[in-house]
Amino acid sequence: MPQQKTILRALAGETLPTPPIWMMRQAGRYLPEYKATRAQAGDFLSLCYNPELAAEVTLQPIRRYGFDAAILFADILLLPQALGADLWFVTGEGPRLSTITDQAGLDKLGPVDEIDAVLSPVYETVKILSRELPADTTLIGFAGAPWTVATYMIAGQGTPDQGPAHALKNENRPVFEALLAKITAGTIHYLSRQIDAGAEVVKLFDSWAGSLQGEDFAKYAVEPAREITAALKAKYPHIPVIAFPRGAGHRYEGLHAAIGADCIALDDGVTPNWAAGHVQIDGCVQGNLASRHMVTGGKDLIRETRKVVQAFSNGPHIFNLGHGITPDADPANVQLMIDTVRGI
Ligand code: CP3
Repeated sequence: MPQQKTILRALAGETLPTPPIWMMRQAGRYLPEYKATRAQAGDFLSLCYNPELAAEVTLQPIRRYGFDAAILFADILLLPQALGADLWFVTGEGPRLSTITDQAGLDKLGPVDEIDAVLSPVYETVKILSRELPADTTLIGFAGAPWTVATYMIAGQGTPDQGPAHALKNENRPVFEALLAKITAGTIHYLSRQIDAGAEVVKLFDSWAGSLQGEDFAKYAVEPAREITAALKAKYPHIPVIAFPRGAGHRYEGLHAAIGADCIALDDGVTPNWAAGHVQIDGCVQGNLASRHMVTGGKDLIRETRKVVQAFSNGPHIFNLGHGITPDADPANVQLMIDTVRGI
């Protein structure tokens, strides 16, 4: 039985005449209405934990552009905070967390079954959204993948090469693996509650998967994603899972089966033609227009958008960027991309 919502149809493996479309970071600082609501909330974390305002910013890009999916407004670093890490955001710089570098740091984290005390406002946001979204818009919940979340928990901030996380992995593998296991268990719990609250699809963001080399990629990017997907599928067989191991390059091949995911999200490091032949042959793909076109626009945007649509036109495809839209993007370029995809 074909499903009604286009995103769910693509995730079920259907090839659609026009790919459904949404955009990573679609609620964000390139939108004046986001900046206004964020100013009202105060800081970024207050916005994440305010269900009415978080639902409002989630809905803003749906109202403006009519995207086929809405992604819950939250952050991958709320889970570490719920596990007991200190978290704050430095304006213009990004996240800061208390660091975990040894067993003592790991021991300070709280039990997984207590994370809802912090995260319940997020579930409330999901509930509001499932009431208020248009009937044809799919609600996507999400979490960070364990490796990416661990890179922030170990370093206490974003790092260009994930050096501190690689160092802990190489110098104290038991603590590193115990941290990953804890995040994995927390993620299963967190995503389960999002689904209970009304998320119709979940996505795992592994932004730093590409820095895992050799066997580490299978052990610390693929395996935790497989474990989370399997646990969710056991409880919620009808909920599609999108995995986004960013920077995987040629290792994107075979990931539908290795992870058990319904969809593999592609960054812009692979060409759409390569990905159609090597990844989309196994199932739905999402992506992969370079985000910079949302800044630069014009003929390049139209040409590259058409290239992505064309390359993936013979299989299930959800149109998206290869990474999040940046604050310097022009909202008019987003409309141009959507019109180009929809052939208007
Ligand atoms: O996509 C969406 O619209 C949903 C909401 C969402 C946010 N972050 C909101 C956000 C999602 C899915 C994320 C995921 C996320 N968060 C990732 C994985 C995806 C990726 O971008 O690689 C990561 C690594 C984070 C951690 C994080 N959050 C960083 C490093 C930063 C600072 C960098 C930046 O862009 O400012 C954030 C802040 C953040 N998360 C913002 C938003 C809208 C900007 C905050 C602001 O309003 O100032």
